[in-house]
Amino acid sequence: MTARPAAPDLTVLDDPVGEALRGPHAHLARRHGGALAYAPQVASFAAVPATPTAADWDDLGHLYGAGSFAEVFTATQTPPPSWVCELDLAGFQMVATPATPVAPTVGTDPDVVLLGPADVPEMLALAARTRPGPFFARTIEMGTYVGVRDGGALVAMAGERTHPPGATEISAVCTAPEARGRGLASRLVLDVATRICARGEHPFLHVVDGNPAMRVYEQLGFEVRRPVRFRGFRVPG
Ligand SMILES: CC(C)(COP(=O)(O)OP(=O)(O)OC[C@H]1O[C@@H](n2cnc3c(N)ncnc32)[C@H](O)[C@@H]1OP(=O)(O)O)[C@@H](O)C(=O)NCCC(=O)NCCS
Repeated sequence: MTARPAAPDLTVLDDPVGEALRGPHAHLARRHGGALAYAPQVASFAAVPATPTAADWDDLGHLYGAGSFAEVFTATQTPPPSWVCELDLAGFQMVATPATPVAPTVGTDPDVVLLGPADVPEMLALAARTRPGPFFARTIEMGTYVGVRDGGALVAMAGERTHPPGATEISAVCTAPEARGRGLASRLVLDVATRICARGEHPFLHVVDGNPAMRVYEQLGFEVRRPVRFRGFRVPG
């Protein structure tokens, strides 16, 4: 088994977007005053300080631009009323546990292939068909992405998204409808989790309440750390 930290400090998961943009993903961040956001086409997530002022929300509005859509799902703060809420979904943050059966070594599943820039058009098409969550042309810059091909066609993928210090989020977990029920998502989640654990980091993920994928994650030993709300707002102006 690849070792997981014995007693990981998971408080960074209270705001994984802000922790990532101020830390390991600083190179993917754009910043204005107290507001941070991922670069366009990387991710649509933004972060504001823990106790944001009106000026911090103005900074975020400046970053995105009037009329843009800002996702602040890992932050609990609510923007001023002029920011219209257009997305509000209940969900869960889940973390790997000692019951998560990470493989002895990385990269031993012969069916799992690394995905790179040349694969992005197929990845975008698979994400559009299966809708695992936000996925854009530059999302693969956030971490390692892996997939399974069947007859040459990409039928399943998973990868790494936010990266706060000491932890990495597993995301874009999806399997084409014609390839479901064969264990592909389970194998890919474990492959990504193994890579994360091999770096001495803790795997975590987010799932919308009611998504059958939660059962897949529970079967892999992930457990709920806390409820979350996936919230997105239209920037006023
Ligand atoms: C969720 C999803 C990734 C599962 O892919 P998959 O390759 O079929 O998953 P697996 O074959 O590894 O399934 C593992 C287990 O979950 C079960 N499972 C998978 N999909 C299920 C579903 N829709 N409903 C109920 N159980 C399901 C399988 O039966 C299996 O259980 P078992 O081991 O007891 O037989 C796929 O349905 C999908 O792409 N959904 C849309 C995108 C999405 O929502 N992704 C998750 C974002 S958080």
